[in-house]
Amino acid sequence: MRGSVIVGVVLGLSVGAPALAADAIEARQTILKAIGDDTRPVVAMLKGEAPFDLAKVKAALKTQAEGAERLPQFFPDNSRTGKTEASPRIWAEKQRFFGLYAKLAADARAAEIAITDEASLKATFPEHLATCKACHDDFRVKK
Ligand code: HEC
Repeated sequence: MRGSVIVGVVLGLSVGAPALAADAIEARQTILKAIGDDTRPVVAMLKGEAPFDLAKVKAALKTQAEGAERLPQFFPDNSRTGKTEASPRIWAEKQRFFGLYAKLAADARAAEIAITDEASLKATFPEHLATCKACHDDFRVKK
């Protein structure tokens, strides 16, 4: 089961909500790690530590959008505890939590078209980072 969920995630197939909490936790962490890995080089561009690279920006936006669209199914009620940094607040404020994923997905989809150069990157991308931070501040417990 775990294998098939991960394969589904990697291939971008739509998989049903996993039955086991551990599978859900692992699946969401895999997606979030990929979002982090692809977003990091863009943060370096914004800081002036790396040259502007549109291909990397587009890759990050695609990973953010596809990930944010798939993530909600990986927070079933039975996955509150275990090896996870997910805060219990998620399940108390589900609407606001899932709303932040919807915002990130919509912003990333729009930015896939809007970002064409360094200026449009600087005008647009910080908004996505603010959404990451807003959610992590309220819904992620650093362990
Ligand atoms: C709607 C809420 C939400 C948004 C938006 C969000 N995250 Fe997260 N993120 C979480 C939660 C919750 C966890 C902890 C998941 C767990 O441990 O089960 C997490 C974990 C992570 C992790 C650690 C994954 C691992 O290896 O376990 C990274 C990296 C990360 N997020 C990056 C990002 C970036 C970058 C963005 C924005 C582009 C972002 N996240 C947007 C909620 C969010």
